[in-house]
Amino acid sequence: MTQLYEWDASTYDALPLPHLGWGRGVLDRLPLRGDETVLDLGCGTGRDTELLLDRLPSGHVIAVDGSRQMLARLEERLAGRLDRVDVLHADIREPLTLPTPVDAIASVATIHWIHDHDRLFTSLASVLRPGGRLVVEGGGRGNIAAVSRALGVLGVDLGGSKWNFREVEETVVSLKAVGFDDVEVELRPDPIRLDAGAQFEAFLATVVLGPDLRELPAAERAPFVRAVAALIPDSTIDYVRLQISARRAESP
Ligand SMILES: C[S@@+](CC[C@H](N)C(=O)[O-])C[C@H]1O[C@@H](n2cnc3c(N)ncnc32)[C@H](O)[C@@H]1O
Repeated sequence: MTQLYEWDASTYDALPLPHLGWGRGVLDRLPLRGDETVLDLGCGTGRDTELLLDRLPSGHVIAVDGSRQMLARLEERLAGRLDRVDVLHADIREPLTLPTPVDAIASVATIHWIHDHDRLFTSLASVLRPGGRLVVEGGGRGNIAAVSRALGVLGVDLGGSKWNFREVEETVVSLKAVGFDDVEVELRPDPIRLDAGAQFEAFLATVVLGPDLRELPAAERAPFVRAVAALIPDSTIDYVRLQISARRAESP
């Protein structure tokens, strides 16, 4: 299995991220009483962990991520509130182990980094209590096609072999096969236009190509990102989001 990647957490947080809206959308689809324990899968810098804490006055969040830089930024952001957060550095390609099952799982912009969704969903079902809800969004089929085309034109397979942008039906089948019911999955186009030039290039470098850029020698990264940017029309990232809501069945 390939190594876990580090993310540039401070540049990431400084960008105009569509992830803010995606995170709010996920939380809107997650009904909570306020005393539950919720797993934030691929929590990154903790933006949604913080929103979850606000909605869980007597609950807990388990914040899981594979990037130590992202988790360090989360700990800064949530300083003073960490008594209700378990911060876990883990590779979610591997089965998760938690001391007790969680009441719900939320995940934003993470699952498309995981190649084997059957294995991931099996792992998530195993740490979710029966009746618990899974609410996820990530890249779906067709996501950032213009970026993939640009990489193809440049003859470079950076993220292409790592991203797993899946279709609705195969996701439904995968979830049901491992014990989820009440499954709803949809694909939603959500393009975002950035300012051409520095902002677009920083966005591509940090958010879209992020970890994969490290495969290039340092001196080649900026010219490469500029070449990718030049091939994408209207400095627009053509996001297509896969939105999942499901419940772990009461009995298998
Ligand atoms: C695009 S960021 C999203 C972060 C956050 N949820 C947000 O919306 O801003 C993707 C996150 O997934 C994490 N990630 C990707 N692959 C992972 C893996 N195999 N194990 C654990 N975390 C992983 C990365 O470290 C990163 O923080």
